[in-house]
Amino acid sequence: MSPPDAPLHIQVRIDELREQIRHHDHLYYGLGEPEIADSEYDKLFKALHDLEEQYPDLSSPDSPTRRVGGAVPRFVGKPAGSATPKVVTPVEQFSKVPHDRPLLSLDSVLVPDEVYAFDKRVKKELDVDRIEYVVEPKYDGLSVVIGFRDGDFVEGATRGDGQTGESIAPNLRSILSRLTCLTLPGRVPQRIVVRGEVYLRLPDFQALNRQLTERGEKTFANPRNAASGSLRQLDSRITASRPLVLTCYDLMVSSDPLPPTHWETVALLESWSLPVPEPAQRQMCHGIEEVIAFHRSMMERREDLPFEIDGIVVKLNSRDYQEQLGEKSRSPRWAIAFKFPPRKELTTVQDIVVSVGRTGALTPIALLTPVEVGGVTISRATLHNVEEVARKDVRVGDRVKIERAGDVIPDIVERVAMPGEQRAAPFAVPRHCPVCQSAVVQEGPVYYCTGQTVCSAQLKGGIQHFASKGALNIEGLGEKTVAQLVDKSFVKDLSDLYRLTKEQLLSLDGFAEKSATQLLSAIAQSNTPSLERFLFGLGIHHVGHHVARILAAEFGALETLLAATREELVEIHDVGPEIAQSVVHFFAEPRNLAVLDSMKALGVAVQTVSRETSGQVAPLKGKSFVFSGGLKSLNRQEAAQRLEALGGRVTSSVSKHTTYVVVGKAPGSKLAEAERLGVALLDEAGFLELLQRAGIG
Ligand code: IVH
Repeated sequence: MSPPDAPLHIQVRIDELREQIRHHDHLYYGLGEPEIADSEYDKLFKALHDLEEQYPDLSSPDSPTRRVGGAVPRFVGKPAGSATPKVVTPVEQFSKVPHDRPLLSLDSVLVPDEVYAFDKRVKKELDVDRIEYVVEPKYDGLSVVIGFRDGDFVEGATRGDGQTGESIAPNLRSILSRLTCLTLPGRVPQRIVVRGEVYLRLPDFQALNRQLTERGEKTFANPRNAASGSLRQLDSRITASRPLVLTCYDLMVSSDPLPPTHWETVALLESWSLPVPEPAQRQMCHGIEEVIAFHRSMMERREDLPFEIDGIVVKLNSRDYQEQLGEKSRSPRWAIAFKFPPRKELTTVQDIVVSVGRTGALTPIALLTPVEVGGVTISRATLHNVEEVARKDVRVGDRVKIERAGDVIPDIVERVAMPGEQRAAPFAVPRHCPVCQSAVVQEGPVYYCTGQTVCSAQLKGGIQHFASKGALNIEGLGEKTVAQLVDKSFVKDLSDLYRLTKEQLLSLDGFAEKSATQLLSAIAQSNTPSLERFLFGLGIHHVGHHVARILAAEFGALETLLAATREELVEIHDVGPEIAQSVVHFFAEPRNLAVLDSMKALGVAVQTVSRETSGQVAPLKGKSFVFSGGLKSLNRQEAAQRLEALGGRVTSSVSKHTTYVVVGKAPGSKLAEAERLGVALLDEAGFLELLQRAGIG
C-alpha cells in the first residue's frame, strides 16, 4: 500500500515540530542553554520522526531528523585571547574544526518493551540469537573529542553539529593536565581520537553556584549547563578554575587497527590512563535481560552517584556487528540510550496565585521555591482548579512533591506532611477577579470571572483564540501583539480587529511598515470565514471544533443559529443541555450581538452552508486536492478552508490517490506529476463550480 497523502494539518504540525526542534537545537548546541528537558526534546523529535515516516512525501533533506546534531551553521571568528579573566558568554567565537568521523547521537527509549524491540531487531538483522551488550552510564554533560599524536594531546573540540565542532583545545588541555593525561604512557598509536563526556560532579556544581551567587553572577540551572558554560569559555583560565571531569567512552579514530570489541576498546583507553567509566558502573551483558536489570539497578543507585546520569547507554560489544548494522543519518543502529523516567522532586509552595484564561476560568498556580527536575529549573506548577487544591490540600508554605511529565508546567503530585509543621490557612478562592475585579462565580469545580467583556485577561485569550490556526487563522497575531493591542485599548472586542489602522500597528513594539501591512492584510483576508471556523473562534463555552462543525452543518447560517432555541439545540445529536445552554446564553447577551453586528458592518461575511449540504457534514469527504499555481479569486488558505469545511482534504504533493489537481496561474511541477499519474485537473472556474455544487459558492 502506498503511503497516505498528508492532510494540511499534518503539514502544519510537521513545520511546527521542525521549527521547535531547530529552536531547541540552537539553545542546546549553539548557546548551551537548553530550555526543555531531554525527555521533552526526545518527544518532539520522535513525533516528527514518526510523522515523516508515515508521510514520506513530506520528508525533507534539511529536516532536523536528517542531521547528525543540531547546531545551525554559524559564523565563527578568531579565537579570542582576552587578558583579564572575566565570564565570557560562551557563544559563536570559537574556530570550527571538522570531525574526522561524524559524532553520532543516540536514539532513546524509555520502557523495557522498546529495549526488547531493539534486541529483536538487532538479532533479526544479524541473524543470530544471542548478543553481547555493553552497558554504561549515560553521563549528562557535554560530548567532546580529544586527539593525540604520538601520545601527546594535540586537539580537542565540542561535538557541535556532529560534523563540525568548536575548537576548545586550550580548555580541554586544562582538564587533561589536571588528570595528568596530556601525555599518554605506554605504546600509543601514532594518531588517535577519543570521544568522551565532560561534566561536573554535583557537589562541585553546587559549590560553583554558591560562588557565583556570592559574586552576584548568574547561576546555572543544572550541572550540564554549568559544564557547558564552563567548557565553552574563551578564556581557558575560567575553564581551568572549574573542577570539570572527563570520562572517555569511545576510540573514534586510530592509526592502528581498532580492537574487535567495545569492552576491549574501553580497556585500551584505560591502559593509556585515560578516565573511563568505573568498573562498578559498567557491565558486559549476555542477553537483553541483563541490560534491563542493569538499568533497574542504576536507577536505584542514581541518587547515590556523585554526578548526574539520565539513563544508560546500551552498545553492541562486537565491532563487526556494529559495522554490519551501520548507522542512520544521526544515530547508530547498534546502540541506544535507555533513559530514566522523569524525576520527582520536593520543594516548597511560596504562594498560590490565580491566572485567568480566555473562558474566564480561574486556574490556581503554585509558585514554588525553584527546584531542578530532570534538567529544568521549575518555579511554577499548575493546580488545575480549586477542587484539586482542596483535594490535595495544598497550602502556602507546604512541602510538595512535583513531577515533570513532559509539560513545561509540571504537576504537584502530592503534599508531603512534615513533622511538627505549622500550616497556613487553606487556599481561599478570590471573590473578585485578580485582573478586572469582576465577581467570581462557581460552575462545578471551576470558578469563573464574570467580567467577560471587561476582563483584559479574557479578552487577550479570546483574541488569540479567534486568530488561532483552527479558527480564523490570522497569521502574525501572536500573544505579544495581542497583549499590546489590548493594553493600548486599540482592541476592546473582536470586531475592533477589523478597525485596526496601520498607524496603530506601527506604534506597537516590534512592528515596521512591512509587518504592519502583512498583519492588516491577514486580518482583511480572514473576513469570509466558514461558519464552522467562525463559531469555534467565538470561544463560546463548550463549543470546540466538533460542536462548531455540527452546529454549522445543522443551521447553515449564523442568523439561523442566532434564532435557535435551547429545545431545538438539545434535539441535535451530540449537543447536550450544557452546550445548548451555553450557546443560547452567548447569543442572548446583547454585548455579544453588538460585536457580531459590528463585524458584519465592517465587512465580515460568515459563509453560509447551503440547504442541500446542511445536515450533511462532509459532501467532499474522501476527496483530496492539490493546488498548483495561484488562483485569482481566492488565496490558498481560503480555498483550503472552504474545502475543509466541506470535508475535503488538501495535500501538498500529488499521488495517484489525489482526486483533483487545481491548476492556477503559473503551475509548477505538480501539474506535470498530475499529468504523468493521470490525475483529474480542474481550472479555477471548474474548482469554483465544484465548491458551488458542494454547497459553498
Ligand atoms: S556513545 C555512536 N556512551 O549521549 C555512539 N554516549 O544522546 C555515541 N553520552 O551525544 C555515543 N554517556 O554525549 C555514548 N557512555 C556513553 C555516553 C554517551 C553520555 C552522550 C553523548 C551523546 C549523547 C547521545
